[in-house]
Amino acid sequence: MKRRTALSAVGAAALAGTRFALAQQPTVIKFSHVVTDDTPKGKGALKFKELAEKYTGGKVKVEVYPNSTLYKDKEELDALNSGSVQMLAPSTAKFRPIGVPEFEAMDLPFVFNGDEGYNKTVKGPIGQGLMKRLEAKGIAGLAYWDNGFHMVSANKPLLMPADFQGLKIRISGSKIADLYFRRFGALPQIMAFSEVYQALQTGVVDGCENTASNYWTQKFYEVQKHITVSGHAHLQYALIANGKFWNGLPADIRTQLNKAVGEATDYTNSIAKQENADALEKIKASGKATLHYLTPQQRQAWIEAVKPVYKEAETRVGNKQVVDDLLKSAGIAA
Ligand code: LMR
Repeated sequence: MKRRTALSAVGAAALAGTRFALAQQPTVIKFSHVVTDDTPKGKGALKFKELAEKYTGGKVKVEVYPNSTLYKDKEELDALNSGSVQMLAPSTAKFRPIGVPEFEAMDLPFVFNGDEGYNKTVKGPIGQGLMKRLEAKGIAGLAYWDNGFHMVSANKPLLMPADFQGLKIRISGSKIADLYFRRFGALPQIMAFSEVYQALQTGVVDGCENTASNYWTQKFYEVQKHITVSGHAHLQYALIANGKFWNGLPADIRTQLNKAVGEATDYTNSIAKQENADALEKIKASGKATLHYLTPQQRQAWIEAVKPVYKEAETRVGNKQVVDDLLKSAGIAA
């Protein structure tokens, strides 16, 4: 009897030790993205890491993999689905392969009346309704992260729609971007973000669109002689998590992570504008690319050229209601 007690005491101690070791193992969140640390999204991911680890007292460890070091554009979403990574913040232009093309309505040109219009849309029923569509795909939609308005570039000035004629323009995946560049007479091509610099350098494509922070950190301005600060469309991200992972977290941990998400979102959205303004200044100072700004007449010519896209969008994004709602909120008749 005595012997058995001694043995079970040893066993219990061993078991407790194992439990203790298990309890000490932090939950790891792999967060993959395609831009550098030195961008609104890159800084947002690092802020989330800092806050998530702090608020969970180290029970969660966030590993951030920037600049396509782990996965490229479409591979990221496959990796999230399979559970190889737990969090991402892809551009909303990249959700067609996982069955939520409706997000592309937000790529429609000239639909946001500046930052205020953009913010109103993502915070309102349109933005929230789109985010909810992710649930059915096994994805937890957590927040919108802002980047800013697109610029467009080539090795010639792009001032009027006709200037795009015959140019191969890299796009990130959206059928809406495909439509508006075709309206300009360009030939849009989908390509992973990590391949754009080399494609521009070697002439595989002639031009691209992106925000100033991405032009600066990927050095696109080194291989594009002319950049038009056009603001023709907007780049935003959906911060997302693998649904099974996120919903399976202990409630107290998820509460702390939601707090980290909220604060990291406020932080990211508060720095995006300045980050892009600073990047534009640095591009200007480099003297490597000439910046162009559209005159009111040129801008009007772009607006006229893309008008048919509003109607075409209904079938392309496969949801007339979403397109109608967005156009209505922008005061545009399709
Ligand atoms: C792109 O592919 O151009 C963007 O989605 C990159 C990014 O994530 O900002």
